[in-house]
Amino acid sequence: MLSYNFIKKILFLFQPETAHNIAELGLRVLPNCRLLNNYMVNKNFVMNSKLSQEILGINFINPVGLAAGFDKNATMVKAMPALGFGFTEIGTMTPKAQEGNPKPRMFRYPEKKSVQNAMGFNNEGSTKVLENIKKVYPFTIPIGANIGKNKTTPEEYALNDYKTLIRKFEDTSDYLVINISSPNTPNLRDLQNEKFITELFTMAKELTSKPIFLKIAPDMEVDVAINLCKTAVDAGAAGIIATNTTIDYSLVENCQDFGGLSGACLAEKSYNLFKEIAKELYGKTILISVGGIADANEAYRRFKAGASLVQAYSGMIFEGPSMVRKINEGILELMKNDGFDNISQVIGSDLK
Ligand SMILES: Cc1cc2nc3c(=O)[nH]c(=O)nc-3n(C[C@H](O)[C@H](O)[C@H](O)COP(=O)(O)O)c2cc1C
Repeated sequence: MLSYNFIKKILFLFQPETAHNIAELGLRVLPNCRLLNNYMVNKNFVMNSKLSQEILGINFINPVGLAAGFDKNATMVKAMPALGFGFTEIGTMTPKAQEGNPKPRMFRYPEKKSVQNAMGFNNEGSTKVLENIKKVYPFTIPIGANIGKNKTTPEEYALNDYKTLIRKFEDTSDYLVINISSPNTPNLRDLQNEKFITELFTMAKELTSKPIFLKIAPDMEVDVAINLCKTAVDAGAAGIIATNTTIDYSLVENCQDFGGLSGACLAEKSYNLFKEIAKELYGKTILISVGGIADANEAYRRFKAGASLVQAYSGMIFEGPSMVRKINEGILELMKNDGFDNISQVIGSDLK
């Protein structure tokens, strides 16, 4: 087998978005190469009852999922078990197709194991994505559908976009995610206000019985973030996903002054906000932690802080296809050291 260090050297010769497109091509083809796919599933997909949980009626074989933005058009779902993921989140998709922001719009900082993106919800639109997802749903691992408004939709019609998308994807996803936390759609983060969130989740609850999460940005003051999360939960959100990318450009020297940073540089910021939210909401709702998770120790501290599940994206760019296996195996090792028999005992253990 080719080592990822070697593959990475080649991929990193390309612009990050081109490298992503090459990886996408490979992952679209992979499930058709039965032998290789089976080999990778057997190697990377950690199946151990100590890691499995039922959450909101959904069965998660392991607690490490793919974060939104990698599989925007639901073209790679079938390859995710080969990368070890216990669940996947497609999107963000918008009602109508859109091209996103001008290129280049993705940047890597290898020395910081960090990424910056200003993609702007480039996606093929809800009709095409729905066609793609219908071909695989229901799948062996849970699928979340992450939804966002079109760039051209004015704020006063934003609710309509979310309504359309919930209706469209509720039958072909295990959970939905409302994304109003991307820094790359002008004024989108302005929707992170209590009035809009109350209207949104009240409407959403009437539309569907599927669990709907709110994904939040890491750049809010702690008390503002906590209030927003509480408002969402009170209005019917099934849980919170924290966090999206950050616009704190002080985290990486000489980075671009637009877009959102993710990966290692985000870990501390994301953890700190997550921890504060969990102090208020652990036990009252389901919490998913994302941002800078690339190894077992980082994932484990999120579980201890109150996360039921974790997600990762940027880390995979630097660590490769064995990352999720190593995280899951490492979690099992850490659980053994701490005397935990099931991941559910780890969740929130710092708070007890
Ligand atoms: C290139 C790229 C595109 C992304 N696109 C989306 C998106 O469409 N929707 C979304 O909710 N999050 C998106 N994200 C944010 C990730 O889902 C995640 O919240 C963030 O990157 C922090 O996790 P990480 O440090 O493991 O990457 C994107 C991230 C990257 C790097």
